[in-house]
Amino acid sequence: MIELDTPTPKANEVLVKVNATTVNRTDCGVRAGKPFIVRFFSGLVRPKATILGNEFAGAVAEVGADVTSFGVGDRVFGYNEGAFGAHAEYMTIAEDGALATMPAHATFAEAAAATEGSHYALSFIRRAKIASGHDVLVYGATGAIGSAAVQLAKSTGANVTAVCATDHIDLVKGLGADRVIDYTTQDFTQDRQTYDVVLDAVGKSSFSRCKRLLKPSGIYLSSDLGPLSQNPILALVTPLRRGKKVMFPIPRHDQAMVRYFKQLIESGEFKPVIDRLYPLDEIVEAYRYVETGQKIGNVVISVA
Ligand SMILES: NC(=O)c1ccc[n+]([C@@H]2O[C@H](COP(=O)([O-])OP(=O)(O)OC[C@H]3O[C@@H](n4cnc5c(N)ncnc54)[C@H](OP(=O)(O)O)[C@@H]3O)[C@@H](O)[C@H]2O)c1
Repeated sequence: MIELDTPTPKANEVLVKVNATTVNRTDCGVRAGKPFIVRFFSGLVRPKATILGNEFAGAVAEVGADVTSFGVGDRVFGYNEGAFGAHAEYMTIAEDGALATMPAHATFAEAAAATEGSHYALSFIRRAKIASGHDVLVYGATGAIGSAAVQLAKSTGANVTAVCATDHIDLVKGLGADRVIDYTTQDFTQDRQTYDVVLDAVGKSSFSRCKRLLKPSGIYLSSDLGPLSQNPILALVTPLRRGKKVMFPIPRHDQAMVRYFKQLIESGEFKPVIDRLYPLDEIVEAYRYVETGQKIGNVVISVA
């Protein structure tokens, strides 16, 4: 831990006193510079951001001279990808950045865990136009992306099949999954049902392995590039012909996205899954745990 001066918000920024943040796979990807392509955005040799942390929940401590939509004391949450800075007691974010006032009745821990995995999940659901009646399979249903994807797909009225390990069957059923495949006893790629959408939220499958699961115009999406970095290329090529397609959407993170999650949390359609909570001075342990790739939902850091 190091002591730094409290940042001063620019005219268009708010200073947030962080109460809770998360360590997530985006932080880990930027910290480790993996996959390599991440380095073109985050810094070739080392991360440009010296303080990581993209999800946050806390209270506005100071506002810049031109800020009109937030005031001191407002409880806010959001996503600060690019700038990062939430793994600290104070961070700044532009007034029109990806933040909103806290959802009613949510804890700081829940709000802090509401935007990273879930905004990836949202981008998949919107890109594939998942809607009521669609048959959707979510592989990796217990991760931050997967646990959000199950809930968001359910909120559209889709029929959701979730793939997870034995210990987490009750959890994913509680998130709304209609059917569960236990990957420790069954190879989901051999499932007899076919799907409008197969979403690999853990990056451990491929289009070729999942093709037989798709209906004739079915869509395959993955949270990762694929073993040969093939998914972005397949997403360009497969739409050129009829039939089964790969999509690889670039997620948006803006204020509308955060407000959307606020609304879903308030309506009860989305509740971020929290696995572990660490105090800030144990953040190294939190990184070690998240880097195992075995966390369930989200790992929250209490900064207060
Ligand atoms: N590059 C980036 O910036 C970036 C950002 C975000 C995410 N991603 C990628 O997106 C993926 C998901 O991220 P996330 O944050 O949702 O992951 P996560 O929260 O770390 O979760 C991984 C989950 O997958 C489950 N899992 C592990 N192996 C599995 C398997 N073989 N079959 C089914 N489930 C399995 C784990 O539970 P069990 O092992 O107990 O089943 C765990 O719950 C990751 O591969 C990550 O690299 C990349």
